[in-house]
Amino acid sequence: MSAETKSRTASPQPVETSARGESMPIWLVSVFILTAFAGMIYVAVHGGWFDPLVYPPFADIQHVDAWTRPPALGDGIKKGKVVFEANCAVCHTSTGAGSATTGCPPLDGSEWVLAQGPNRIIRIVLNGLAGPIEVKGGKYGGGSIQMSAVGAALSDQQVADALTYVRASWSNKGKGAAPVTPEQVKSIRDKVKDKTGFWSPEELLKISDKD
Ligand code: HEC
Repeated sequence: MSAETKSRTASPQPVETSARGESMPIWLVSVFILTAFAGMIYVAVHGGWFDPLVYPPFADIQHVDAWTRPPALGDGIKKGKVVFEANCAVCHTSTGAGSATTGCPPLDGSEWVLAQGPNRIIRIVLNGLAGPIEVKGGKYGGGSIQMSAVGAALSDQQVADALTYVRASWSNKGKGAAPVTPEQVKSIRDKVKDKTGFWSPEELLKISDKD
């Protein structure tokens, strides 16, 4: 055995043991806990509760709604335009001018439309109208030209939106005609549920135009 081998057997290299068994310093543990906690708070505040429609700087969907959607009335007018174009414009025209040729009366500037309350026009849309009717000094409809019960197939909300749009559009804008609510439509729909046939202007004139 050489001297070199002998010395290796006799004195083995010491094994590195210094890191074993030592606990993590308490300050490091605290940093981990604080970081995790801060992360949770960040997600709670900025995560939008995992709703894909919520994005910074908004905290939740109510916040997004409050800042990015137009007010309810504007919404009603926009939706009302869609209902109007699909269900009314074919006769009353998109500009609300109506047409003397077809016998469809104007909605733009109509005293029926601009009445204080929507009581009568809701009834017209729900049950139809058989005139003739006088609008802005002219006579329209009557005979074979009548308005059918267009609103029978529409929801309370759709009737309300369409009439809100009509009362707030063209030259009717700024005339102070209040929006029409689905509650008003529902209440009238309940009252007239047993009515058969179309309204006549005379019948409608007996009903107050104030509510
Ligand atoms: C098929 C054609 C037609 C459609 C569709 C129609 N109307 Fe009419 N509307 C008429 C006619 C015609 C009269 C007049 C009837 C009469 O006096 O005989 C009238 C009368 C009216 C009147 C009262 C008179 C006036 O000019 O102010 C209002 C209000 C009205 N319609 C609103 C609407 C609304 C709102 C819609 C859609 C939800 C609608 N109409 C859909 C043909 C139509």
